[in-house]
This record gives sequence, structure tokens and C-alpha cells, in this order.
Amino acid sequence: MGSNGYGQLYSTRIDMPAETRSQVIATLNQTLASTLDLKTQVKQAHWNVKGMDFYQLHELFDEMASELEEYVDMVAERVTALGGLALGTARIAATQSELPEYLFDILDGKDHITALADRYAIYAKSLRENIDKTDDLGDADTADLYTEISRAIDKRLWFLEAHLQTEVEIVPVNGSTRKTAAKTVAKAAKTDTKTTTKTTADKAKKPKAK
Ligand SMILES: [Fe+2]
Repeated sequence: MGSNGYGQLYSTRIDMPAETRSQVIATLNQTLASTLDLKTQVKQAHWNVKGMDFYQLHELFDEMASELEEYVDMVAERVTALGGLALGTARIAATQSELPEYLFDILDGKDHITALADRYAIYAKSLRENIDKTDDLGDADTADLYTEISRAIDKRLWFLEAHLQTEVEIVPVNGSTRKTAAKTVAKAAKTDTKTTTKTTADKAKKPKAK
């Protein structure tokens, strides 16, 4: 009967086998639990953040929580559209969520941003896996729903991480990695462009030499 022992299906005219619907519904209910959990954690940050960046972070976290509330509704209603039972209570979210509990001993903005970025990263990874999973199950519409949420969550993760990114990793073709400050990278990028332009120009000259 699907996950959580509440896996009954309602009959529907949707042209999708019951077995497929059942597996997609279980996946969606897992996402519903994690989304509800993440929303409450973002609210927790919204209420308790302190420090000189209080106001902008208080507002940003509220906007992020509202966005997650929309996804809660979208995911739950995809479950019911497929003839499933949406499992969206706080108790179920607490037991089924993929996320760790929030941190209660943090105060300043940077610590809240780091805690949220860690949780958004876990949530983003799960969404991306579920794009492929539901696509493989043959439900392109649910895969599309996951894609929509995934794209927005990646953007939010960028918003969070932009507060923390003070150095970049340069990954050359041979795979070794070095870290450097943003200014040096901008300079290096300029030099690379010049080299590339020269090389392209040299190549363009070659046919004329015939
Ligand atoms: Fe508020």
C-alpha cells in the first residue's frame, strides 16, 4: 500500500498505471514532508536571526518561506491529482523529512545562512534525483514539477551562498584545484580571453596561406 501505510489509491481517469501512480505518490509524499520541514526551518531563521543584517535577512527568509509554502501546495495537489492521499501534517513531516533538525544555538546572520544553505543543498539534491526518478517511471508531468521547483531552489541556494562566497575554485582541465580571491580570477579571465582571441585569429589566417 505504498509508503507510511497510507498508500491507498482513489480511482481516476488518468491514463497512468496504478503501480506507476503509487510509486510517484510515495516519492511526492517524501518531498512533501521535506518541504514542510524546510519551510518551518526557514521561518525559525526568519524569527530568530540577529545582527546588523537583521532586517534584510528577516525579509529574505520570509520570502523563501512563502515560496516553499507554494511548493507544499503544488506537491500535495499533484499527489491528489494522481489519486493519492497527501500526507502533510506536522507529525508526518517530522518523521519523514530528509533534513536534519535546525540549530537552536545560533544567532547571527552568517550562521543562519550557513545552516539554511546546508539544508537547501540536501533538498536540492533530492529534487534533482526525483526529476530522473519520476521521468524513469514515465510521469513527465511530475518530472516537470520537480524541475520547476529544483530550478527555483538552486537559485535560492545561490542567494544564500552569495553571502558566503569570498573565494573561488579554479578547476583546470587536469583536475587539480586551487582557490584564489575573486579579484585575481577576474584578471586571469581577462588574460585567458586575450589568449583565446589570438589563437582563433591565428587559426583563421591559416587557410589564406594556401
Ligand atoms: Fe514574519
